[in-house]
Amino acid sequence: MQHSETSTGDSSLPLEVPSDSLATQSKVLVTVLSAQGLPPFAKAASAPNAVTAFHVSKIRVGIIGCGRIGQVHAQNIAIRVPHAILVAVSDFIEEAAMRVAERFDVPLWYKSAEDLVHDPRVDAVVICSPTDTHAPLMKECVRYGKHAFCEKPIALDLATIDDALATVAQANADLRSLRALPRATAMTSNNREEQAFYEFAQTEHNRRLQRLRQSPAGIQLMVAFQRRYDHNFQRARQTHDAGFVGRPLKLHLVSRDPAPPPIAYLQSSGGIWVDQAIHDFDMARFLLKSEAVSVFASGLALDPAIGELGDCDHVLTQLRFANGALCVIDNSRATPHQAYDQRAELFGSAGSIFVHNVHPNTNEYMDTQGVHRDKPLSFFIERYADAYLQEMQVWVQSLVEGGASAKATSPDSSAADGLTMPIPSGFDGRIAVVMAMAARKSFAEKRPVDIVEVDPSLAPVIRQAEQEAASLGKQ
Ligand SMILES: NC(=O)c1ccc[n+]([C@@H]2O[C@H](COP(=O)([O-])OP(=O)(O)OC[C@H]3O[C@@H](n4cnc5c(N)ncnc54)[C@H](O)[C@@H]3O)[C@@H](O)[C@H]2O)c1
Repeated sequence: MQHSETSTGDSSLPLEVPSDSLATQSKVLVTVLSAQGLPPFAKAASAPNAVTAFHVSKIRVGIIGCGRIGQVHAQNIAIRVPHAILVAVSDFIEEAAMRVAERFDVPLWYKSAEDLVHDPRVDAVVICSPTDTHAPLMKECVRYGKHAFCEKPIALDLATIDDALATVAQANADLRSLRALPRATAMTSNNREEQAFYEFAQTEHNRRLQRLRQSPAGIQLMVAFQRRYDHNFQRARQTHDAGFVGRPLKLHLVSRDPAPPPIAYLQSSGGIWVDQAIHDFDMARFLLKSEAVSVFASGLALDPAIGELGDCDHVLTQLRFANGALCVIDNSRATPHQAYDQRAELFGSAGSIFVHNVHPNTNEYMDTQGVHRDKPLSFFIERYADAYLQEMQVWVQSLVEGGASAKATSPDSSAADGLTMPIPSGFDGRIAVVMAMAARKSFAEKRPVDIVEVDPSLAPVIRQAEQEAASLGKQ
């Protein structure tokens, strides 16, 4: 394991330079990679032998943020995702990065997230740091040609999300407009070890650009909605796809945490709708296969500390979808029994599907008081353990395949027939935030809010969902 620090020396390196003007060729990716030379990278860990020992046939992943969710992804990538290798971790708290690096035998660790992104040995980055860092880090990844897996939410406001997604789109447009480029000359450093690493770094960047140019999807972004990969929710969706419920009429989602996160987390979380209910907004779209038209939300704060933040800890959110279906989402930050309560019912014209809580065992205990059983799996890390693994396997598989196909279940999934559908995209991540913003507005203004009030640009998307529902109804 090596500690890596950013070089303070000369980082202006030779790179492939487009023969035409950079300004007309590229606005994002090539400018960064070509015009300014290589990004600064970690020379302290630059021993070429160590570098070349990295397994280049696998996707080399770096994780930013070694907290609760970062450790879940670190464990999966290090141990259970066949085509990935965890090569770097970073955390603002250095000891946290070191601990995770030690635990999972990760060769590089960083304090600075940017240093990790800049390291030429990292192909793809999992962003697990706090929400306000997601969009800037996503942009940084994209600028340096790195695929990104971004924890939810992308950001708390649409301007920031749109800016980040535009960077992804621009970089991929740049890639498509790139041609085979002549290589510039001149090495600036006289130090042989530095030169060797510069050479290596350049080769890596050139290889990366070439791979990205050849891949149908270019730089791939996945937003973390792991519940889509939970085998219970997948089975519900498959059953619905097969026509079992007929026309979907009502969806009930119950999603309650056993206990609230620390106040410090809540202060920057964006509130219960964008932080917690966002998973349910995505699940509602996933199960109803339509888009929300309007939202009515109400809530209360039982915990005065949460109330003082202007936030709620118990909320009900009612939505109407473009296919006519109604949805009620029931969220709590805490439960009196301290259980993680995750249930769903999809009720349709031909049948109902129930998704129940998952328990650690099937035992029942009978005594004079009645029949008892163990509480459901304790929290998201336990309840969605397999879903976190599945989502990571799907993302890595899709990177291996260059985005050619992205199945919602990984090849070794226990689900018999995996759903074939695109991985949750920037669009999916964005629309769930819009739904959360509409809920928040509805709560504040005590009235139903149309989605297009929050984001008029979604009008065509909703119209299309209405048209699809109308044409299905005629069949
Ligand atoms: N998909 C899910 O089910 C799920 C579950 C939990 C959290 N999340 C999301 O993941 C993100 C992190 O949540 P968490 O619960 O793991 O938080 P956490 O506080 O447990 O961990 C965050 C870590 O990031 C580190 N950090 C802070 N700033 C950093 C920076 N600039 N660079 C590198 N590291 C930095 C912190 O030191 C901390 O160790 C949040 O956006 C949250 O919404 C998603």
